[in-house]
Amino acid sequence: MHTNKTILVTGGAGYIGSHTCIKLLEAGYDVVVLDNFSNSSPEALRRVESLAGRPTTLVQGDINDHALLARLFGAHKIDAVIHFAGLKAVGESVEQPLRYYHNNVTGTLALCQAMQTAGVFNLVFSSSATVYGDPASLPIREDFATGATNPYGRSKLIIEEILSDLHRSAPEWNLALLRYFNPVGAHPSGRIGEDPSDIPNNLMPYIAQVAVGRRDHLSVFGSDYDTKDGTGVRDYIHVQDLAEGHVKALEWLDRKEGLKAINLGTGTGYSVLEMLKAFEKACGKPLPYKLVDRRPGDIASCYADPAMARDVLGWSAKLGLEAMCEDAWRWQRDNPKGYE
Ligand code: NAD
Ligand code: UD1
Repeated sequence: MHTNKTILVTGGAGYIGSHTCIKLLEAGYDVVVLDNFSNSSPEALRRVESLAGRPTTLVQGDINDHALLARLFGAHKIDAVIHFAGLKAVGESVEQPLRYYHNNVTGTLALCQAMQTAGVFNLVFSSSATVYGDPASLPIREDFATGATNPYGRSKLIIEEILSDLHRSAPEWNLALLRYFNPVGAHPSGRIGEDPSDIPNNLMPYIAQVAVGRRDHLSVFGSDYDTKDGTGVRDYIHVQDLAEGHVKALEWLDRKEGLKAINLGTGTGYSVLEMLKAFEKACGKPLPYKLVDRRPGDIASCYADPAMARDVLGWSAKLGLEAMCEDAWRWQRDNPKGYE
């Protein structure tokens, strides 16, 4: 199948971007990737192409490079942009707010300016459940109050507001603001997956590194939350399901319904200890852990009401906890040092 449509994927070499590129190529789209490899490797794209059996076009560079963007939009007839490029480490954003706002917010402005100049008005933006702050109730619906507790989260909120203003200013813009819950897992081939460059901040890659012997134990951040077993509860979503959600979002953009913020989650919350048990089952060995203090800034529970994605995009998550852990483990086992 060939759609005759070309999608610009910023950050396409990253964790979610690489999985989405495969789905796009499989769905018949042509893909142009813009990535500066600040948090990824060209090897990921080579594997994307070999898994999908089709090439992508790589433009290596920064979303803040106006001249590069102008050349890119001049050289390729882009139908829509999926915008993953961004920095995402919460702790680092507290230490380096200017770098985060420049990369994420100014970078998105540069991208939107280039799109407007080129007459490209279809954008899928990677937002995050972090925009809900500490939600008043659960499950979380898209009309809940938003708030941010760190520069990373604030960069996502600011971008959401900029995109809303853009839509108000010119109705030809079609914008899907996808609020991801907790992406985990990997491609079932075990060839691409999440490859944190430093000590992982997030739970699943940390557990995977314990399982493969790179870390000696998991620290469970807090065991006195008001949850089923005292540990934090999150809505983990398989990256393959998430990638599929982006293909559905492109189809929604084509229906020209303007701007919408949409949760991409499963609607089910699992605790840290449940995740650990599920991963132990997948890798077939017990994994050492210690209960330690809460991590500052963490909330007890967070899970989506996924109804809007179902009704608006015709998308819902299909893969469960077992597949998330088995696929994450296969990737980690076969690539103990990531793409290195
Ligand atoms: P990632 O770091 O693996 O991917 C981001 C990609 O963008 C990387 O390949 C990086 O090199 C590239 N990049 C960063 N800044 C760039 C710039 N200025 N110019 C060009 N390329 C640049 O992260 P990911 O997990 O795939 O996340 C993708 C997006 O989804 C991010 O915007 C992130 O904030 C958002 N998000 C991620 C999660 C998560 O848990 N992974 C959750 C919610 C939202
Ligand atoms: C974190 C970010 C959030 C971001 C999301 C997805 C913080 C405060 N929040 O959210 O902005 O959108 O990742 O990228 O960083 N845990 C442990 N031990 C660990 C790691 C995590 O017990 O070593 C626990 C956490 O306390 C939490 C759960 O595991 O209860 C999930 O943590 P994590 O994967 O970091 O995701 P979030 O905290 O949801």
